[in-house]
Amino acid sequence: MDLFSPDPAWAKARIAELTERLNAANHAYYVMDAPSMSDYEFDTLLAELAELEREFPDYVSPHSPTQRVGGAPIRNFVTVLHARPMLSLGNTYTKADLAEFDARIRRLTEEPYTYVCELKYDGVSISLHYENGALVRAVTRGDGRQGDDVTANIRTIASIPLKLKGSDYPSSFEIRGEIIMPHKVFHALNAKRKEAGEPPFANPRNAASGSLKLLDPRQTAERRLDCFLYFLLADEYEADTHLHSLEKAAEWGFKTGSYYRECADIDAVMAFIDEWDKKRLDLPFDIDGVVLKVNQKRLWPVLGETVKSPRWAIAYKFKAQQVKTRLLDIGYQVGRTGAVTPVAHLEPVALAGTVVKRASLYNADNIEKMDFRKGDTVLVEKGGEIIPKIVGIDLSRREPDGEAYRFADACPECGTKLLRKEGEAGYYCPNDDHCPPQIKGRLEHFISRRAMDINTMGESKIEVLYEQGLLGTIADFYDLDYRTLYGVEGGEHAADGNRRVVTLRDRSVRNILAGIEASKQKPFEVVLYALGIRFVGEVTAKSLARHFGDIDALMAASKEDLLQVEDVGEIIAQSVLDYFAKPEHRALIARLKAAGLQFATAYTNERPEGVLTGTVWTVSGVFSRSRDEMKALIEANGGKVGSGLSRNTTFLLAGDNMGPEKRKKALALGIEMIDEAAFFEKIRQAD
Ligand code: IVH
Repeated sequence: MDLFSPDPAWAKARIAELTERLNAANHAYYVMDAPSMSDYEFDTLLAELAELEREFPDYVSPHSPTQRVGGAPIRNFVTVLHARPMLSLGNTYTKADLAEFDARIRRLTEEPYTYVCELKYDGVSISLHYENGALVRAVTRGDGRQGDDVTANIRTIASIPLKLKGSDYPSSFEIRGEIIMPHKVFHALNAKRKEAGEPPFANPRNAASGSLKLLDPRQTAERRLDCFLYFLLADEYEADTHLHSLEKAAEWGFKTGSYYRECADIDAVMAFIDEWDKKRLDLPFDIDGVVLKVNQKRLWPVLGETVKSPRWAIAYKFKAQQVKTRLLDIGYQVGRTGAVTPVAHLEPVALAGTVVKRASLYNADNIEKMDFRKGDTVLVEKGGEIIPKIVGIDLSRREPDGEAYRFADACPECGTKLLRKEGEAGYYCPNDDHCPPQIKGRLEHFISRRAMDINTMGESKIEVLYEQGLLGTIADFYDLDYRTLYGVEGGEHAADGNRRVVTLRDRSVRNILAGIEASKQKPFEVVLYALGIRFVGEVTAKSLARHFGDIDALMAASKEDLLQVEDVGEIIAQSVLDYFAKPEHRALIARLKAAGLQFATAYTNERPEGVLTGTVWTVSGVFSRSRDEMKALIEANGGKVGSGLSRNTTFLLAGDNMGPEKRKKALALGIEMIDEAAFFEKIRQAD
């Protein structure tokens, strides 16, 4: 035996022992919320296990805690048919409806029954399959009939057992539940995204959904998702009641939560609902209601189901939380493009777990329509989204001499007189070159992921460098060097009240400079988008770059020339002309050119001939591949990707979580909607 390496038989046993101990510790921590070992001990044992596994790869168990995040990113999710359709639940919002649901059951059966009340987790439903106690497959709900195989991502969720406990589980079964993102994780994720210039998720549900659709399980692992299980489908296992299946599932290691309760009758159900309508604010995750299920499983086939939902269960949905408070004042925020958004300052009031001090008022039209007076008592609502909105005014409490609000005349940041363009709902500050939020906004836009993608910078660093006078225009990025950056220090009072302090030391300075250097390789169309010319989004930037080929041709273009470009109408053409008419902007381009940025492209607007030739597409929602990949597929097949829904759009490629407004608009314009499956079908005809 080699003196320095362990005996294989011993290693095999030790690997098995460590695997089991660490899995038990994980279960205690993530499922039971009752840690059984210290972080230090856990990390030490995990390191020992990983070391042994490296030396004896043959003994690695697929259930080892080291095997949660496996393999490389995948290219595509595989579609899987559900063995039994994943039904949804009927919704009610009133107790009268619940009483009717109960009365109906009594009409259908004379047998005694009870209910199990559960929380209605506000996440994404999932179906898990176990064979001989091991997790073999996890599938999203999809359209209820078929979903995506997301096993690799689901394995990264620490509260989902890879191997079940005990031995009395069925050899093959399915269990369904909800993937959620806890509030704490959600807020941290959004803060990080904001810092990186990425759009924040509107709510934890969208964040959970987006996280499951990531193609790289390592990224999903970072999202720290959680999962509650609430529905066991196992022919082999004869539980008489739903309550018993939940208890069994918990014994096998699933997280069923401790929130459910058996209720003897509908009155007890109502009491459960009232209790949770209050207590939900203290939960560390979102719920949007309560689910009640008939407990006695033999009644399920008697009560039956519709195509959409079972008749033995129903969801009671909580109303969006509302409170009344006083409107103290209306303030204004100036965005990157100079758009001025009105914000209501409210008397602080507790609502849905947070203290609300502000609400968005959208735009000037909305203010006129609502006709606010100073001191009005307003009704504030917080639904699934983070930012509360004002849904009404209590006119009975209006003071007779309250002053009406007029939209601000001048920019609150720089004092310039505001302008409103014909036909637009909002005002804007025209002082784009000297208004501070516009300057910072342009810098942030320039480094953002879809623009130059200088992810080593971020909002707070930009703020500090701007404060210190080191950054004023986007060309200044390329003058930064080690000596100027090293030791720079500063901070800001962020909107959340915390002061963020930035001190640049060796590592961050090197990172920043490397990020800036790498950005010089970004293609012309990206640079053009990054400039932040009003109305020139990614699609237009691409068209312009490919039409003119280089910046000199673009700068020399007349209005007629510009109008020749696809997607470019009067407004965009004028905006491009205005931009390049300014000597400052021409000087800026000259500096960026000297710094080595790309200002020419070999690509042209000519598209390959294909099945999609002649069609114009808008892409919206979440797909199994990134939106960029979907767009590239459209273009590769001869189609064109437009910048938004308009009369010229032929198809709306609709993914998951698409907003209802898009759908409405598409319907109104008579645009055909196509889902991912139908799209792939369409381009497959090409082969
Ligand atoms: S039971 C046949 N229980 O709500 C039973 N669903 O609106 C089907 N949900 O698709 C589901 N919490 O994603 C059930 N405790 C719970 C739930 C729950 C959340 C979700 C689930 C379902 C949707 C129906």
